[in-house]
Amino acid sequence: MSGFSADWLALREPYDHRARALAAIPGLGADDDPAPPHTATSGPLRLVDLGCGSGSNLRYLGPRLGGVQHWRLLDNDPQLLARLQPRLHDWAASLPARFDEPSAGHFEIEAPGLRITAVAQLVELGANAALPDLRPGECVTASALLDLVSARWLDTLIDACVAGSHPLLWALSYDGRVEWAPHDRLDAFVHARFDQHQRGDKGFGPALGPAAASHALERLSPRATTLLSRRSDWVLGPRDREIQQSLVNDWQRAASEVAPEHREDIDEWARRRHAFIEAGSSHLTVGHLDLAAGFSR
Ligand SMILES: C[S@@+](CC[C@H](N)C(=O)[O-])C[C@H]1O[C@@H](n2cnc3c(N)ncnc32)[C@H](O)[C@@H]1O
Repeated sequence: MSGFSADWLALREPYDHRARALAAIPGLGADDDPAPPHTATSGPLRLVDLGCGSGSNLRYLGPRLGGVQHWRLLDNDPQLLARLQPRLHDWAASLPARFDEPSAGHFEIEAPGLRITAVAQLVELGANAALPDLRPGECVTASALLDLVSARWLDTLIDACVAGSHPLLWALSYDGRVEWAPHDRLDAFVHARFDQHQRGDKGFGPALGPAAASHALERLSPRATTLLSRRSDWVLGPRDREIQQSLVNDWQRAASEVAPEHREDIDEWARRRHAFIEAGSSHLTVGHLDLAAGFSR
């Protein structure tokens, strides 16, 4: 169990998809085009999704990349991997596309201009595990993963991508920008404690938290032939009540863990923020970055 519930991933998915800013794999199609067609004639596209959860990244990228795609979906949480089947099934029905699971954990999705095969793999990616073997030509993708990993882990992954010329597309890394409206006098205090919590060990060594995307950009910039980064912020308003409530609860929990001596103040902060949400006046922006890179062969 990773601590990420399937309900939370389902709640955030539409916000993630609305926020995402890059859907091109450098080296395949026009790198600056947000949605280049990947045609069947250009050969199958191979992707590995690190920390796939219940498959949000595939659901976002699949139709935007188009053509023939082979995905490996890697996660260490069997409960989230078990959600892949129903989530992919329902998503395919909504496209509409044909869906099949020819054997356990193997999925096929087919619609005009799109043929996806995907295999789920229960894999530990954390600090004490070896990185999974990257297959020739495979694009390394991840969404909402980078802020969990350590500098050392990320550097090892970047080295592997450079060494094998694996293009990469890493979406939705929390970058530390947070803006609440209306303002509360403890917003900055709780935000700082939340970021401190983000830098704790999440199984990959001390996490980079809000520094993850800038760390990756710094390491990639001298080595990548193409490097793109775009903001992919959540911009939440009064109608986005459930996700705002969930974030307030999450931040309350995280801040209280790192500053238990301020628990009462933090609880008061959460009560005031919930009142703004209930009153239909709460706005929240949470900063994320998408980045993509390609390397010469
Ligand atoms: C924030 S969730 C993002 C899930 C998915 N990519 C999405 O965008 O909905 C982080 C994911 O990383 C996975 N994860 C965390 N630590 C892991 C580890 N040590 N090995 C493999 N997967 C891990 C979690 O199980 C979870 O699915």
